[in-house]
Order: sequence, then C-alpha cells, then structure tokens
Amino acid sequence: MLNFKFYNPTRIIFGKGRIKTVSREIPRGSKILVTYGGGSVRRHGVLDQVMKALEGCDVREFGGIEPNPEYDTLMKAVQLVRSTGIDFLLAVGGGSVIDGTKFIAAAAVFEGDPWEILTSFGSKVSGALPFGTVLTLPATSSEMNDGAVISRRSINAKLHFAHPSVFPRFSVLDPATTITLPPEQVSNGIVDTFVHITEQYITYPAGGKIQDRFAEGLLLTLIEDGPKALLEPENYDVRANLMWCATLGLNGLIGAGVPQDWATHMVGHELTALYGLDHGKTLAILLPAMLKVRSSDKREKLLQYAERVWGITQGGDDERIDAAIERTRAFFESLNVRTNLGSYGISGECIPRVAEQLRRHGMTRLGERADVTPEMVKKILESCL
Ligand code: NZQ
Ligand code: ZN
Repeated sequence: MLNFKFYNPTRIIFGKGRIKTVSREIPRGSKILVTYGGGSVRRHGVLDQVMKALEGCDVREFGGIEPNPEYDTLMKAVQLVRSTGIDFLLAVGGGSVIDGTKFIAAAAVFEGDPWEILTSFGSKVSGALPFGTVLTLPATSSEMNDGAVISRRSINAKLHFAHPSVFPRFSVLDPATTITLPPEQVSNGIVDTFVHITEQYITYPAGGKIQDRFAEGLLLTLIEDGPKALLEPENYDVRANLMWCATLGLNGLIGAGVPQDWATHMVGHELTALYGLDHGKTLAILLPAMLKVRSSDKREKLLQYAERVWGITQGGDDERIDAAIERTRAFFESLNVRTNLGSYGISGECIPRVAEQLRRHGMTRLGERADVTPEMVKKILESCL
C-alpha cells in the first residue's frame, strides 16, 4: 500500500427529515448566505424546508448558480458576501451549487485575482469562509470533499481546485430530496459515481485490499440499485443507498494509499468546456475507450474488475477484459446514457480541439502513470466517434 494522509472533517447528517436540524450546525449569530441553483430547490420545497429551519437567523439568498457553475455568476455572490459581511454559507443543491459555494467561500477572503484560485489548482488558497451543504443530487461527493470545478465560458475553461479549507463543515443528506430528480440527472449521477470509483480502482495493483473491496462494493451497489432508481423512483431505500454510495465514492476513503487515474475526468472537463455536455455524459463516452486503449497498462486491475464486479471468469485475458469493458458500456447505455460522441452531435473536429485545450491547461501527462498525452487522447477520442 502507498503512504497516505487521510483527513476528512465533514460531519454527515443523513436521513429523512434531517433538514429541520440544520440550524444546530451553524454558529449562533452567523450572517448566513443560502446559495442555490436555477430553482429546482424552490419548486420542490427544499428551500422552504431550509428557510423554515433557519427561522430567526440572519439569512440572505443567492440563487441562479448554473450547472457547471460559472465564474462570472459566482463573482457576483463574492461581491455580495464582501459588501454585507456574510460569514457563513449554506449551499442547497447539487454538485454545481456546492462547488460554486466552495469557490465563493475561498474567493471572499482571497487577496488578489480570484481566477488564480483556479489557475493555481488551489495552491494559492490560504483560507475560506465556513459553509455547510444540503445535498439534492447524489453524484459528485462535493458534499464531503475539498474539491470544486468551476467554468469560465468566455475562455472555454473548466478548471478544478482543491484545498482543505473548502471541506464543508457539515452536509445534510436527505435521500427524499432526490426523488424529484429528472431521470436524466439520476443517470448522470450514477455514471459520475461509477467513474469516480474506477478512477481510483482500475489503475495498477498496490496491495490496497481494503480500498479494492470497498470500491467493488460501491460498484456492485450502483449496478444493483442504479437501474432500480429509474424503475422505482419513489423507493427511498434505493435512493438512500445511491446517495451514500456517491458520497463514499469521492470522499478520500477509497483513494487513500492507492494510485489514482483521473484522465477520464480531465478530458471530460474539456468536452464540457467546448460543447456544454453534461459531466456524466462526457464520462460515459470516455471511460470505455480509455480502458480499451490503455488496457495493457491496466491489465491486472481490469482482470480483477472483470471477475469481481462482472463475474466474468471464462475465456483468455484479452477476452475477459474486452467483455468487462463492454459490460461497462452496456450498463451506461441501460441507464439511457449514450456512450459515443456522435449521439450528441459531436464529430471528429473535436479531436484536435480537445488536444489543444489539454495542452493549454497543462494537462499533458495524465493518468496513474502520467503517460496519457494529448496524442494518446486523440487516439482515445477517435474510438469514441
Ligand atoms: O439548478 P437547479 O434548478 O437546482 O437544477 C439542477 C440542475 O439543473 C437539477 N437538480 C438538482 N437537484 C435536483 C434537481 N432537479 C430536481 N430535483 C432535485 N433534487 O439537476 C441539474 C444538475 O445539477 P448539478 O448540480 O449541475 O449536477 P451535479 O451534482 O452532477 O454536479 C455537476 C458538477 O459537479 C462537478 C462537475 O464537473 C459539474 O460541474 N464535479 C464536481 C466534483 C467535486 N466537487 O468533487 C467532482 C466531479 O467529478 C465533478 O467534476
Ligand atoms: Zn465526476
């Protein structure tokens, strides 16, 4: 096992009806800014539950954070925070609202041009306002990690940053809030969680037995309960398992002490930056092709994945690996997430553009062996057409 440090200070408050306890988690006397997205939380009553729980507190609202949260919008919230002396943030929504709130929290106290938070990938961050979250979409694990991804459409950029000061103080996870999700977002979330796990699991063996078994358990849960969430949208237990699965997929636990890949994500971010494609959809397109093109490097873990996750034990090594990759693709397709670029109207002209974006963003040596170059990404994208 590799050496590691594990730190995760986020308190999780999980279950039905837990939103009403939210004010207990916020220091008394705080000036609170509640942040949210395009209005789903207002339409479905989650914002009402939050506001009721905060009765008697000093609260303002900032709505309109987009999916793939936009830098210019977030900077308006930063102005509001600075001009009104807000000292606690509460994000209510999915990964985009939480990521956006992490940026607001860090930018509000940042000296200098806040864009540098992103261009330095967080290394220039020295602190952030405290914040909590009320999660409504299981996918990113942003509710229990210290990362965020911010877009700036005017320059086709979608960049991530990470810093320990942007771990949420707490996150309320009420699976009942996820019942209103459109099927498309449920599927995006399942694919996103799946790929978070494979980024930390399908690399090369490092003797991380616990991490491997844990990752396999999460993948099997997604395969078992993902389709059920679409067939039985009101099934609370299914929603609860998916929600906790998504959180555990990227809260640091399964990635501690093992190599990590993340090439699928980094290339996916460029596809979103250029074409506006949902995050989950970019991953569904890229993962099968990444695994196929890089299968010799990932051979041992792919064979383990084939056997333990998909129960494939017959045939030669190559056959089993190909079968596991095809089962992965079929799983995404079964959730109605298409797995090639053409299905989204994107042609081969994207290939040089994505490669150029990667170079521009310094993403020239991706993957667990730092050997995924823009040239290799071109080959991967060719097989995604
Ligand atoms: O904006 P509103 O009106 O709230 O609607 C949202 C949005 O349109 C809607 N929604 C959310 N909860 C709902 C709901 N609709 C009905 N009922 C509910 N309960 O769903 C739409 C998508 O929301 P969004 O927050 O964009 O989705 P997601 O949670 O998948 O977040 C995606 C963003 O997270 C980043 C992605 O790159 C992308 O920008 N990621 C963040 C990570 C992290 N912080 O660690 C890691 C991930 O790999 C990912 O990159
Ligand atoms: Zn993701």
